[in-house]
Amino acid sequence: MAGAVLSSDVDRSPAAVSLEGVSKWYDNVPAVQDFTIDAEAGEFLVLLGPSGCGKTTVLRLIAGLEIPSQGVIRIGGQVVNDVDPRNRDIAMVFQSYALYPHMTVRRNIEFPLRSRGHPAPARSRMVEEVARSLQLDKLLDRKPAQLSGGQRQRVALARAIVRRPLAFLMDEPLSNLDAQLRIEMRAELVELHAKLDTTIIYVTHDQVEATTMGNRIAVIDQSRLQQVGTPREVYEHPANAFVAGFVGNPPMNIIRGHLEGEGDAMNARFQDGYLQLPPVLAAAARRENLGEVLIGIRPQDLQIVEQGTIHATVSLVEVVGSESRLVCRFAGGQFITVDTDRDPAHMRNGDVIDLAVGRPRREQQGVSQEELRSLPEVPPEALHLFDVASGRRLDP
Ligand SMILES: Nc1ncnc2c1ncn2[C@@H]1O[C@H](COP(=O)(O)OP(=O)(O)OP(=O)(O)O)[C@@H](O)[C@H]1O
Ligand SMILES: [Mg+2]
Repeated sequence: MAGAVLSSDVDRSPAAVSLEGVSKWYDNVPAVQDFTIDAEAGEFLVLLGPSGCGKTTVLRLIAGLEIPSQGVIRIGGQVVNDVDPRNRDIAMVFQSYALYPHMTVRRNIEFPLRSRGHPAPARSRMVEEVARSLQLDKLLDRKPAQLSGGQRQRVALARAIVRRPLAFLMDEPLSNLDAQLRIEMRAELVELHAKLDTTIIYVTHDQVEATTMGNRIAVIDQSRLQQVGTPREVYEHPANAFVAGFVGNPPMNIIRGHLEGEGDAMNARFQDGYLQLPPVLAAAARRENLGEVLIGIRPQDLQIVEQGTIHATVSLVEVVGSESRLVCRFAGGQFITVDTDRDPAHMRNGDVIDLAVGRPRREQQGVSQEELRSLPEVPPEALHLFDVASGRRLDP
């Protein structure tokens, strides 16, 4: 292990888990390609992405259940590529819980201590302490079959926590729970993370889970890291069109438009209208000499107006409390979602409406011609431009 600890790292505590240029191929199938990412000590890092993008493989590589085809994995600053999974000081919580059905809750929780040879008195003390903190102390003599799904989940967590590993790896641990329990367990996990002050790397394909739980989110698609950032960074500045469409509920509208115009006065034109680009974005598009762009607009950044530059036909009106959501269609067939706080009572399927980008103040009831004129120009933060070919974000 000589040279495992970088000497330049002495002035800061090493990342709990660090991947440097890590790839994993199964025969000719890439599961993980060129991952470079650190989970800082104490961080709750979420790996988010669609099914098959490589999330579980990343966790298995960190746990040592898979050998990387390329790259270096460090845990607490030590290179662990050749370290046995048992010696990695990492605990993994699986989607399936993987409890031993013939063992009581107590025996399940103490299993990792037994297998590491902790003496009996210390063992029971540690088990009882963890059981208390997860409200399992009254259930220690039951078998897993006599527990609810949420209780089983807590036993799996208790078993991971009991030996105080350097980091926890969690693979969609809440996906077997019903919706209500999932919300509660999310909150419990976040509390637990704060209490244990430990590092968690948490896998999910649910972007709501990711944005509510993570200190940072690593968005993955097709075996590659797309973006790493705080939930807010990823939401407000998606690095590419994939992230833009994947993070946010309902998803961002993404429209392809032709660019036309001179200097700062540039429009993006599509079949059902056009948008005037804010000067900073027009300059960015011009700099790259683009003829076409993908335009991203979040549903809540679209406003129904009496006269606007975008036209659409209402196909569904959905009222959600004080807000309503319209699903509209462009003439070309593309759907576009609009979240509005205007009362949609008068709206019908088939109505043709005009839309503008921007968000008038909540207390306004509808937007008149005057108000529309007085709306500021399209706010740059409400428009996201992406390169058509690569999907890359164009920043001002
Ligand atoms: N043992 C294996 N042999 C061959 N291919 C594999 C193996 N394990 C995973 N893969 C492939 O690697 C890719 C990533 O799989 P992985 O299980 O990491 O995805 P995931 O993001 O966890 O998906 P899900 O959300 O469905 O669990 C997939 O294309 C998968 O088919
Ligand atoms: Mg998986």
